[in-house]
Amino acid sequence: MNTTSSVVTKVYDNKTTASNYVAHQVAEKIKENNTAGKPTILGLATGSSPIEMYKELIRLHKEEGLSFKNVMTFNLDEYMPMDHSSEKSYHYFMDVNLFNHIDINKDNVHVPAGNLTEEEVGAYCADYEAKIEKAGGLDIQILGIGRTGHVGFNEPGSPEDSITRMVTLNKVTIADAAPDFDGADNVPKKAITMGVSTIMKAKKVYLMAWGEKKAEIVKESLNNAITDQVPATYLQKHSNVEYVLDKGAAGE
Ligand code: GLP
Repeated sequence: MNTTSSVVTKVYDNKTTASNYVAHQVAEKIKENNTAGKPTILGLATGSSPIEMYKELIRLHKEEGLSFKNVMTFNLDEYMPMDHSSEKSYHYFMDVNLFNHIDINKDNVHVPAGNLTEEEVGAYCADYEAKIEKAGGLDIQILGIGRTGHVGFNEPGSPEDSITRMVTLNKVTIADAAPDFDGADNVPKKAITMGVSTIMKAKKVYLMAWGEKKAEIVKESLNNAITDQVPATYLQKHSNVEYVLDKGAAGE
């Protein structure tokens, strides 16, 4: 794929081989840090894109002894309002798709709270940022991409210097989430998300996208001039980012 940015793009025949590649990159970083006696700080994503990658990490734990005892995680986002025990929550998603199946200490797991009052949000978000910094920053950030070009829930209009905060979801994002909530009316209208600058500070970023329906936004995010209207274009400025795509998502 020709790009005008320095972003590395890797294209795989299918999402399974692509997901396994990312899982093995994550595993190598964890093993390297485990050997050095250092923790590994992971920024994690929800949505359909990372599910197979998480499956492979679970397999590596169960069959090959990969240990998450020294891993600390920070998830990108959560709907708001959202009860953490709800099957629609990203808390539930992460437990079911990863955390319940590995040896991570749940005290080291952080998913933004979706049950805060609006008065509590400011202090909570500042604390989320502080916790990431205190941990030493994100070694790896995993991303999907929304059809609006959002990363996390940084919708069009998100400033480059944005940090963890409460946001209002875009109509396209609400429409895309509607099937999970039995209709657009039931989709929460707000979310808590890590900011663009939170993501940009990660030492390494992997953005995963599968299928033809992502091809157009993948192309725009790689080739358009950097614009807050397609927040993923900010990644063109990151010095260590890989787009990991299947053939469908790379089609444009
Ligand atoms: C949601 C999440 C994003 C995710 C996007 C794409 O909006 N907040 O973090 O990247 O959806 O989802 P999917 O991977 O299902 O295409």
